[in-house]
Amino acid sequence: MPTWLLYAIFSALLVIVGTAVFFFTFTRGALVMRRVLPGVQSDAAHIYPIYSNMRLIRLIDFQPLISGILLFQYPKLVSLITRGLSQTDLRNKQVLVTSCAFGNVTPKVVAAAIGAGARQVLISDLIENELEHTKGKLTAFSTQVDYVQDNAIAMQQPDNSVAANVIFFLLHELPHDLKGQALSEAVRVLEPGGRLYLAEFHRPDLSLLRGLSWAYFKVFEPLALTLWDTHDPIKQLDAMGGFTWERRTFFFGNYQVLIVTKNGAV
Ligand SMILES: C[S@@+](CC[C@H](N)C(=O)[O-])C[C@H]1O[C@@H](n2cnc3c(N)ncnc32)[C@H](O)[C@@H]1O
Repeated sequence: MPTWLLYAIFSALLVIVGTAVFFFTFTRGALVMRRVLPGVQSDAAHIYPIYSNMRLIRLIDFQPLISGILLFQYPKLVSLITRGLSQTDLRNKQVLVTSCAFGNVTPKVVAAAIGAGARQVLISDLIENELEHTKGKLTAFSTQVDYVQDNAIAMQQPDNSVAANVIFFLLHELPHDLKGQALSEAVRVLEPGGRLYLAEFHRPDLSLLRGLSWAYFKVFEPLALTLWDTHDPIKQLDAMGGFTWERRTFFFGNYQVLIVTKNGAV
């Protein structure tokens, strides 16, 4: 094998291992440390440093990287949500975004909601730095966007108050007992006829992909695996009753977007 090829393979391996170690350190690794070190547990104990430390947020929030993490399905997931919002009459309505996310999903969601007539888009997150960072992406919409520090499992919003609620990859990061609470809050705040748009991981159809995903989740995101079965959001919503839903899956079933409509007159 030529020496240049050896160097190339070695460098590629180094980048892959370095990236994996970096992400592990600032995601699951940090949570493990928090659990073993003495200290006060807070509502934000499950949140990775990559979502709370401003330097890390700025370092990681780079569209090609974020798209790559979702195996380049990111634009498809986002367009399904924005298409749904654009096709809804949101005149004089309020739209909620429950928790910030990396990449351009929030600006695209806000543009679609305002384009469909929304009076206000409210961005909520438990972490002040995330709200601050997201504000920087939404300067073009400053008069119609508000921000609130809020917990997805106990929202400040009144019942039946928003026409749409967008949640992008939050559930898989929540402890299992909080997943159902967040879903129940997400639909509580919806007005009758209102829609929840939920993007998440899903159990892959292909066994090879399922095995690889399982290994990835076991190492990096163990809280995600129950979304495949016991904590499937649809199972939880069906148990609550009062909704119709549509599920679209992507990339051999690896991702899903749920569009959940609250029953009742619009
Ligand atoms: C929605 S997930 C997004 C992860 C995904 N990998 C991405 O960026 O596309 C991360 C966000 O959820 C927020 N978050 C986590 N737990 C929360 C909770 N209980 N209530 C509100 N926001 C929460 C974090 O602060 C962070 O901004």
